[in-house]
Amino acid sequence: MPEFRWVDTHCHLQHAAFDGDRAEVLERSLAQLDWLIVIGDSVASSEQGCAMAGPRVHATVGIHPHEAKHADAAALEAIETLARREGVCAIGEIGLDYHYDFSPRDEQRSAFAAQLDLAARLDMPIVIHCREAEEDLAALVESAPVRPRGVMHCFGGDAAFAERCLGWGLYISFAGNVTFSKAQRLRDAAAVVPVDRLLVETDSPYLAPQPLRGKRCEPPYVQYVGEAIARLKGISSETFAGHVKENALRALGLSTRA
Ligand code: NI
Repeated sequence: MPEFRWVDTHCHLQHAAFDGDRAEVLERSLAQLDWLIVIGDSVASSEQGCAMAGPRVHATVGIHPHEAKHADAAALEAIETLARREGVCAIGEIGLDYHYDFSPRDEQRSAFAAQLDLAARLDMPIVIHCREAEEDLAALVESAPVRPRGVMHCFGGDAAFAERCLGWGLYISFAGNVTFSKAQRLRDAAAVVPVDRLLVETDSPYLAPQPLRGKRCEPPYVQYVGEAIARLKGISSETFAGHVKENALRALGLSTRA
């Protein structure tokens, strides 16, 4: 066992995949990790995340682009109320997903814009989801009255888009897909991100990294993502894990509660 611990900056322990053993997964995750962040993607999962928050569990609240069709005024108001709760560190995950198009694109854009506005009003960082929607996302980020700060999660773009996100001041988080053999484009993107702007995550229950690809992903598997990026950067896992923790504290304004 290594002497150091990783953190998981993005997981969905609220997901139905954990309905049978959520408490056990959380317990073994906290036994291996310093802390983790449970990410909201709807009003219900955001409420559930707030209820899980504690000394080593941070929460985010927000409406995912898949759920944008449900982001009416009442839902946005519910997110605003939850955002003020103890243990909530960011608004997210929010953004655009033109790969699945589970919500109409115009509704995705308006839900994202409304939540950018919310983050600005509450002076909170955001966690962004972007899939095959880089140009429209850039237009909304660049035209926001207050430049958002926070994290581009589960980075899926190329090196040029990574540099654009860095230019906005965002931190860039990689998930298990960076370990997949065909993911050279993601590794090329990670190569251009300085170590003081990188984060790692599992996005559990999705995207279990190699060598566990295909299984239900759990927060401790973040170790494989971290080790892959540390190798890419030519630094030790321990050194990189230290960077990730400092970066996460800066990116998301986490207090020393962590
Ligand atoms: Ni996620």
